[in-house]
Amino acid sequence: MSIGLGVIGLGFIGSQLIQNLGKFHDKYRLQAIFDIDKEKVSKIAKLYPDVRIMSDITDFDDCDVVIEAAIQQVVVNVFDKIVDLKKIFIPMSIGAFITDQALYQKYISLEKPTKQLIKLPSGAIGGFDAINSISLIGIQTSKLVTNKPLKVFEEHRYVLEKNIKLSGTEKTLIFQGTAKEAARIFPKSINVGARLALATLGPEKTEVKIYANPKIDKNIHEIEISSEVGFYRFSFQNNPSPTNPKTSWLAALSAIELLEQIE
Ligand SMILES: NC(=O)c1ccc[n+]([C@@H]2O[C@H](COP(=O)([O-])OP(=O)(O)OC[C@H]3O[C@@H](n4cnc5c(N)ncnc54)[C@H](O)[C@@H]3O)[C@@H](O)[C@H]2O)c1
Repeated sequence: MSIGLGVIGLGFIGSQLIQNLGKFHDKYRLQAIFDIDKEKVSKIAKLYPDVRIMSDITDFDDCDVVIEAAIQQVVVNVFDKIVDLKKIFIPMSIGAFITDQALYQKYISLEKPTKQLIKLPSGAIGGFDAINSISLIGIQTSKLVTNKPLKVFEEHRYVLEKNIKLSGTEKTLIFQGTAKEAARIFPKSINVGARLALATLGPEKTEVKIYANPKIDKNIHEIEISSEVGFYRFSFQNNPSPTNPKTSWLAALSAIELLEQIE
């Protein structure tokens, strides 16, 4: 019996996932889709005539696995039903878990068997095998240092409001604070900080620094973990996806790889 997939959000990541389902032969069937953009829905529906078009984001009762690749609010709005129906859930807009305090509390309070059904993608970073091992003894500090190209920040509201002067030659520190605060100010680009926070010290103790760097043309994330077990630094220099320069290629691949892991 194949596994029925429901995909909410048919933008870059959602459509990449669907295009790659062939890799899994008959393991998955595309059961149901939803997007607020009706053109995207009809494009996929034409390619997959057996797919059901969901009436809204919570219309996934007949799916075994639900993938959210839309916006953070969708994660918030589907979460209770996902848990009630014990669906396997892959939330791409993972920042939701730290911007929404109630959702964070619900997630961390889940019993282990239910929590294991929520498959957090590693997204644009990784190293979680080692991080999970270190957690067995305890993590003392957890830091994310993100460098992004200067142009990402040139018109950013926070940079303008704070009157931050961007250098054209050296990197400029844009933000230093908690992962929670970073997710609030940079909701579109902080899934990485949220993922690290969920795996380490939580949104209020995971530290984030963000730099605007004129010397780079890609997003670079460095994770630093200190613990009695040792000191660890992981570095990720992500190329943008060939079809969507706003999203790191690795993020879409991490969701496809999760589908590989599901039995
Ligand atoms: N976990 C990670 O590391 C990581 C990395 C990159 C992107 N993301 C997140 O994944 C999500 C999808 O990324 P993408 O690059 O595919 O974005 P995208 O903009 O290409 O696609 C998003 C799609 O969601 C649809 N959408 C918007 N609001 C919706 C709603 N209320 N209900 C249903 N559909 C809705 C849009 O019409 C669009 O088709 C974003 O939230 C992004 O921040 C996570």
